[in-house]
Amino acid sequence: MRILSGIQPSGALHLGNYLGMMRPAIELQEQGDAYYFIADLHALTTVQDAAAMRANSRDVALDFLACGLDPKRAVFYRQSDVPEVTELAWLLSVITPMSLLEKCHSYKDKTAKGIAASHGLFAYPVLMAADILIVDANVVPVGRDQKQHVEVTRDLAIKFNLKFGEVFVVPETRIRDEVAVVPGTDGQKMSKSYGNTLEIFLDEETLKKKVMGIVSDSQPLEAPKQGLEENAAWRILKLVAPPSEFAEMDARLRAGGTGWGDLKKKVFGCLWEMFAPARKRRAEFAADLGGVERLLAEGAVKARTVARRTLDRARNAAGLNPLAEGRRPLTP
Ligand code: ADP
Ligand code: TRP
Repeated sequence: MRILSGIQPSGALHLGNYLGMMRPAIELQEQGDAYYFIADLHALTTVQDAAAMRANSRDVALDFLACGLDPKRAVFYRQSDVPEVTELAWLLSVITPMSLLEKCHSYKDKTAKGIAASHGLFAYPVLMAADILIVDANVVPVGRDQKQHVEVTRDLAIKFNLKFGEVFVVPETRIRDEVAVVPGTDGQKMSKSYGNTLEIFLDEETLKKKVMGIVSDSQPLEAPKQGLEENAAWRILKLVAPPSEFAEMDARLRAGGTGWGDLKKKVFGCLWEMFAPARKRRAEFAADLGGVERLLAEGAVKARTVARRTLDRARNAAGLNPLAEGRRPLTP
């Protein structure tokens, strides 16, 4: 099994990113060849400030390593360090129907939120297809919001294979139902663009404040609580508490005499504890940024080795000269 996933360096990692994508990806690294990368070229559609890009890329590298990405098992790299990806994106572009991209909701959602309607934003799913196809991935762990992009990837792989011969592996999405849509502090999908996130590496006071700000209704403290399935704090607790502790809090809420404040304190306690080991590891990696850079550089070399082979197959199938070492002289 070959697994690939990526995350954009476009802001601090939140619980939705962690549960929806990062944790499943990290668990999968035990089960196959994993390729995990920092999608900086994708982030460039929205992060257009060099200092912010550098800082965000470094932060997301630290987040991924802190959360348990094991560079001995997984190939870990920056997307922009593997330029073969952008070349493959062009080869895919020429067989991508406009109508396929016009259907993608991510473009519509982002432009509706005021992000400039650039060509890059529109072509974003094609670049994502190149990320996936270039390493011959067959499994792509992501949250539900990325499902459509993996379907585009499948369509493009099948289309290219039909037109030019069997070049690409057709991948599958891997979505965990229980964490497909992690709720934010307002009960909608947690997302940085909704301002409802709980960032997992926040300092204690700020995280506590955010958790205590989770919206709830006005049932009084004494009341046996109703409609718990609609309550954002209850839904989040279910995802972060050990099952026995969740069951106990659930029973207390249903019995009455336990208020939303108690529930939120429990959410905070569980979150803080859940990420304690990762916080420690993150600080260790942060103290060795040179080492992190070296890991990413080694990852890029490994990813490029695979990428060049796939790109070569695609070039050859399309009637372009191969790229492989020794077969492409620099002078005519
Ligand atoms: P955001 O919505 O905050 O901008 P991204 O779109 O950058 O997050 O998502 C990065 C990864 O995290 C993707 O794989 C996405 O599916 C996953 N993800 C983001 N938010 C959630 C969520 N609320 N629930 C589950 N997965 C999520
Ligand atoms: N589009 C993804 C996101 O916003 C990030 C991403 C880029 C990705 N390329 C990918 C995820 C390839 C999985 C596979 O979260």
